[in-house]
Amino acid sequence: MRLRKLLLSVISICLLLFLTFYIIHIKGVARSEKLQRLSSISKKTLNFKFAVISDPHISVFKSSKSPTNEVKMFKDSVSLLESTVKEINKIQDIKFVCVLGDLTKDAEPWNVDKVKEILDRLQVPYYVVLGNHDVSVVDSHLKNMGPSVTRSTMIWTFQGHGFSGPNRWWSLDPLPGVHLIGLDSTMIGDWGGYIDNKQLKFLEKDLQNNKSKFTIVMLHHQLLPYTKAEETGENNFNKFVLYNSKQVREVLEKFPQVAVVLSGHRHISTRYKMEKSIAYFTCASTVTYPMRYTIFEIKDWKLTYTTKDVPCDQKVWEEARKNALNTNINTWPRWSAHPNTPSGDSSLLEELEGPSFQKGFVSLTRLKDIMRLLNKRYNHIE
Ligand SMILES: [Fe+2]
Ligand SMILES: [Fe+2]
Repeated sequence: MRLRKLLLSVISICLLLFLTFYIIHIKGVARSEKLQRLSSISKKTLNFKFAVISDPHISVFKSSKSPTNEVKMFKDSVSLLESTVKEINKIQDIKFVCVLGDLTKDAEPWNVDKVKEILDRLQVPYYVVLGNHDVSVVDSHLKNMGPSVTRSTMIWTFQGHGFSGPNRWWSLDPLPGVHLIGLDSTMIGDWGGYIDNKQLKFLEKDLQNNKSKFTIVMLHHQLLPYTKAEETGENNFNKFVLYNSKQVREVLEKFPQVAVVLSGHRHISTRYKMEKSIAYFTCASTVTYPMRYTIFEIKDWKLTYTTKDVPCDQKVWEEARKNALNTNINTWPRWSAHPNTPSGDSSLLEELEGPSFQKGFVSLTRLKDIMRLLNKRYNHIE
C-alpha cells in the first residue's frame, strides 16, 4: 500500500516536472522562434537594395542615316544600356530595378522593341514609367522625325513591369512591406509634365490603402527644382519640373509612409533634396556624360545611394564629354550659369558629374515611424 502511494507520488512529481519543463522550455523556444521570425520579417522588409536606370534613350544604329552622337549619345545608346544591365546583373542582392522613363529616342517602334529586349535581360523584376520621349509627338513627321508609337502601345508593351491593364499609373509591393507607385507625367506635344486629377485621386487613395508600407514613388518629371534655371524658366528649364509639382507634393506630404521620390528627365548626376521628410531624387542618365546608373540601399534606417559609371570605351566617354561641352548657353545642358569659359566649363562638368553627390546617404526620419507602423502590424498578427 505504502509502496503504491510512493510510486504514485514519484509519477506525479515526474509529470509535474515534465509539464513545467514543457511550458517553460518548449513553448518558450517556440515563442522566441516566432518572435525571431517576426523580427526577421520586419528586418528583411527594411533591408534591401535596388537599382535605378534612367533616360537610356535607345536608338538603334544601322547606317549613316541613323541618329548619331550628340549630348545624348544615340549611336552608343544600345551598348550603354546593355553594359548597364550586365553590371546590375552582377550585383548581389539587387531585389528590383526602377526604370525612370525616356526609354527611347522618340518612341520609334524599332527602338521600343530594342529597349524591351535589353531590359528583359535583367535577372530581377523591373518596373517602368514613361518619359516625354516615349509617347508619340503630334505631327512628328513635320519635324523630320520617324514614326512613333502611342502611349497605349508603350503601356501594353510593358505589361507586368508595373503596368497592369490600360491605366497609365500603377502600384505594387516589390517586397513585403515595401510599396512602389509609378505615375505617368507625360503630356502629348509638350516635353513638360503634368499629373491629372484622375491620377491624383488614384495616388491619394492608394496611399490611404497602404499606410503601413515603406513607399517609393517614381515618375519621369521632377517634383522640385535642382538648379536656379529650373526656377527662373531660363531655356525652358522649368519644363524639367512637373507643372503641378506642388499639388502632387501636397498629396505625398499627407502620408508619413512616403520616404523617397525618384525622377529622371534632367540628365545630371544623381542628387536629392529633402522636403518635409521626403527625399526627392533626380537620377543620372545612361546616355549623357558621364553615363551612369544608381544603386540604392536601405539599411539600418538609412538610405545610401551610389552612382556607378556605365563601363564603356574611353573614346565613347571622351566623345560624350566633348559633346556636352560643345554647347552654348542657349542649348541644353548649358544655361547662363555655365558660359563657354574655362570656369563655365568646369561648373557645367560639376553639374553633370557632381563628384560631391556621387555617393551619399539620407537619414530618413520617417523610416522610424514606418518601422513602428510595421511592428505594430506584425504584433497585431501575433
Ligand atoms: Fe531624357
Ligand atoms: Fe525627359
